[in-house]
Amino acid sequence: MQYKNQFLILRIKNIKLVIEGMNNMEIYGTYGKYLPEIKDEIMHKIDELNHEIDGQGGRKLYEHLIGRVKCEDSMIEKCQRKGLTLTPKSALSNCKDAIGIRVVCNFIDDIYKLVNLLKTQEWCKVVKEKDYVSKSKPNGYRSYHLIIKVSTPYPDVNEKNPGDYYAEIQLRTIAMDSWASLEHELKYKHNIKNPEQIGNELKRCADQLASCDVQMQTIRQVIHEYD
Ligand code: GTP
Ligand code: MG
Repeated sequence: MQYKNQFLILRIKNIKLVIEGMNNMEIYGTYGKYLPEIKDEIMHKIDELNHEIDGQGGRKLYEHLIGRVKCEDSMIEKCQRKGLTLTPKSALSNCKDAIGIRVVCNFIDDIYKLVNLLKTQEWCKVVKEKDYVSKSKPNGYRSYHLIIKVSTPYPDVNEKNPGDYYAEIQLRTIAMDSWASLEHELKYKHNIKNPEQIGNELKRCADQLASCDVQMQTIRQVIHEYD
């Protein structure tokens, strides 16, 4: 009897998986297969920028970068949250972060250097920016967000071929990145009973880390004065 019940649950789980699978195929449609390649190409371009600067005797612009294609379940959830229809055209034109790149820099100055450099690149066009570095979000989140548009060799949702795709680039320091990862982990994976107190504590940590970033920046400036 016990086995029979487990089998049923398994069958129910299997059916659910099949339904989710069908949804997934619809959200990016035929365009989904291009997204990983476009993400890799953008990361390659940013990597080249770093090497160029390094090669010219400058310091590297960032410590590391990571990229991801938003999983289809998250994209469906975002479209539903924004009241968008669940089609590739609607998803990819309205949610410009299907491709996400995170650039983690050593110092605050490097974020601005890289942002300015990205604005001069012919391979991408900055279409939107949010500076949460100089003005943090009320919860203490700090990061510089760019939405870029890139020309690709692939067809796009507007039937342009070769077409254009969007990507979100988040630039932050190591300290800002640590805070964002921990805050994300705490916020999304647990049922918090005292959100206001936890929010205040997290904000205090964010401000302390921001203060360290400024101190580190000052120390670097002092060291470089003697170079
Ligand atoms: P969505 O893209 O719909 O989420 O809204 P938006 O475009 O107004 O958001 P925004 O550009 O401010 O932030 C987009 C991304 O930044 C999120 O998906 C997160 O990766 C990151 N982010 C923004 N705010 C926070 C925050 O408070 N904490 C953490 N950990 N990450 C954040
Ligand atoms: Mg966004």
